[in-house]
Amino acid sequence: MKYLHYDLRDRDLFCGEVPVSRIAEKVGTPVYVYSREIIEKHLTRLMDAFSTVETLICYSVKSLSNLAVCQVLREMGAGFDVVSGGELFRALQAGGHPKKIVFAGVGKSPEEIEFALDRRILMFNVESEAELKVIDLIAAQKNLVADIALRINPDVDPKTHRYITTGKRESKFGIDLVTAKRLAAEMGNRAGVRLVGVHAHIGSQITDVEPHRAALEKVMAFAECCRELGNPVEYINLGGGFGIHYQGYEGLPASDYAEALLPALAGSGYKLIIEPGRFIVGNAGLLLTRVLYVKESGDKRFIIVDAGMNDLIRPSLYSAHHEVWPIDSEFEKGSPEAEAVSTPADVVGPICETGDFFALDRMLPPVKEGALICVFSAGAYGMVMASNYNSRPRPAEVMVSGDYYDVIRSRETWDDLIRGERKIARWD
Ligand code: LLP
Repeated sequence: MKYLHYDLRDRDLFCGEVPVSRIAEKVGTPVYVYSREIIEKHLTRLMDAFSTVETLICYSVKSLSNLAVCQVLREMGAGFDVVSGGELFRALQAGGHPKKIVFAGVGKSPEEIEFALDRRILMFNVESEAELKVIDLIAAQKNLVADIALRINPDVDPKTHRYITTGKRESKFGIDLVTAKRLAAEMGNRAGVRLVGVHAHIGSQITDVEPHRAALEKVMAFAECCRELGNPVEYINLGGGFGIHYQGYEGLPASDYAEALLPALAGSGYKLIIEPGRFIVGNAGLLLTRVLYVKESGDKRFIIVDAGMNDLIRPSLYSAHHEVWPIDSEFEKGSPEAEAVSTPADVVGPICETGDFFALDRMLPPVKEGALICVFSAGAYGMVMASNYNSRPRPAEVMVSGDYYDVIRSRETWDDLIRGERKIARWD
């Protein structure tokens, strides 16, 4: 049976031609498994859907920043959206061309700005007047002119989780339109910057085209206004936010977004930038974890696995839904036979917090200790948000290509946990 892009067959789960049980045996668990084919397929779908307008796809490095993933996307022609000096470093290490890199974020430090200027990136997405002043100053000192986009706050409700809503008036992101207009009018007084774009990113995991369309309207109106004020605006940057399947049905195809957005852009003369992260990698990754113990407590069934909230924090932090399934179950996911034997269970981790869970009251078939459980749709904002909480080494990452796999990040060791720490010199 197929679930998302994976094949559940012979009591195993196939990523490409590789049974994930083999990866678990060789690399251990917990482990993140990514499919190169699926990553490529999603980028290709976006490229095809947006091909009628000149579009630069800047992959949002924050969603999954592993070098190998960035490398695969760069080889296909993607640029990068980075939000820190560290992400810029990664993008460059992956072979990213500076002229395909945009730098966003509300709190860029002077050092990060300098690093990006020295590398001659495509542009900075500027989030405040104060930041604009610093970029202007640093660039002028270097006798450079920094290309920038103003990130406006279009005050559009993306109707997603409030923690990942960014385009509403009360969020910390972007510049309100009144201030942005004044900044655009005064741009000529600044020797170190040139306004070449308008940017907006209204939120993440948006499963409706309408908020994007509403934001585009506001961005384009503002871009016109900037041009009238004498600024050479040539880029419209709509950010990311395209939603994916977590329950198996909510994501929209890339073509829906393109159909909603491209008519307004066609013939406008603007180049489009988009910054998708989750859309490309979200459904291309899963977290594989092994059952340590099964505990029956009253009428509750707890399946205790070897991955915890430190490995994948989305359920704990956002009450996010991830499908979970024991891959060596004899029952096919979604089948009437599976339903007949399923009972509610909490799939929980070993961390000392009640909030450490992957699924609560989920209908699951009988599961034995030692079984492998797959947490689906974990490619985006999984490994990148992993921590060492409870002094747990972070998991390994594996990329499957066809019938082979590469370990693209080794599992951390206990030595890694204390690297850089020092015992105090004097003990009394
Ligand atoms: N551009 C900007 C300016 C962003 O802030 C983001 C995400 C993106 C692009 C990429 O958005 P995407 O296409 O991946 O939706 N940790 C949260 C998501 C945080 C998103 C932050 N910004 C989660 O696990 O759902």
